[in-house]
Amino acid sequence: MVEKGKTYVIMGLLDTDSIAYAVGQTIEAMGGTVVYTVQNERMKRIFIDRSKKLTAEEKERLNLRYCDVTVDGEIEALFKDIDNLGGVVHSLAYANPKTCLGEEFHTEAVDDIKQALEISSISLATVVSHASAAMPEGGSVVAMTFDTRHVYPGYNWMGVCKAALEAVVRSLARRHGKDRIRINAVSAGPLATKAATSIPGFSDLSGLWATLSPLPWDTDTARTDVAHAVTYLLGTYSKMITGEVLHVDGGASIIAGELRPHEK
Ligand SMILES: NC(=O)c1ccc[n+]([C@@H]2O[C@H](COP(=O)([O-])OP(=O)(O)OC[C@H]3O[C@@H](n4cnc5c(N)ncnc54)[C@H](O)[C@@H]3O)[C@@H](O)[C@H]2O)c1
Repeated sequence: MVEKGKTYVIMGLLDTDSIAYAVGQTIEAMGGTVVYTVQNERMKRIFIDRSKKLTAEEKERLNLRYCDVTVDGEIEALFKDIDNLGGVVHSLAYANPKTCLGEEFHTEAVDDIKQALEISSISLATVVSHASAAMPEGGSVVAMTFDTRHVYPGYNWMGVCKAALEAVVRSLARRHGKDRIRINAVSAGPLATKAATSIPGFSDLSGLWATLSPLPWDTDTARTDVAHAVTYLLGTYSKMITGEVLHVDGGASIIAGELRPHEK
């Protein structure tokens, strides 16, 4: 459970389908205060103008800040004026779909790979370096990853970024244990969000889950189950867990071969 009265910064809101939004909703339902970040001022306006699922009052109530994780000063400024910070969720990633994702793994676009690593993996360390000062009594940080035990078609360099992200999680866990700050990741199965649907072949990936996951996996409704697990890692019930990757994927990532008809 998250702590009532504490503030949680949820980074990576794009729209109401975002994992960030589901996490924020869960935290608020448990009595926590939520500050969301969107990438920039323009995206913030787009979110406010185009979110048809939200009423004007619901939009009014959202505490939205902007933060591009490639701009160190914006991350620093974000955590400067957050009081009573209980935790942070890093729910963002980017890789150019034309060069870093798709049918061909090899690419000459090394700058695109570096950009993907900066945004999707390295930024977690930058976020924690600034957020830690705002959590003098400890706290919890959760990042979002995708199964790094297997190589999936089309996921290419984002798969590499996620492996790096998980390594950053472990290094940060070692570094910040003495500060009572825990760093973990949730490895989610495929969910229908903007980032996911821009992966060429995302529908194949969701189809694959239907053949692999012992628990029936729904790319829409599982968003809430993923958010619940993130909230568990943010809160006090996971107090002695750090440096871990919690798989919330219906069990698909432990399965060798497809499920047999009698197993479905
Ligand atoms: N959807 C899935 O199937 C799935 C599965 C496992 C893990 N994840 C991970 O969950 C996280 C959230 O993705 P989502 O699926 O909710 O998609 P989403 O498209 O809703 O969110 C991705 C967010 O990343 C943000 N972002 C990109 N570049 C940024 C930058 N430079 N600075 C700040 N923000 C930036 C975008 O603005 C967007 O808000 C990502 O790390 C993603 O890899 C998603």
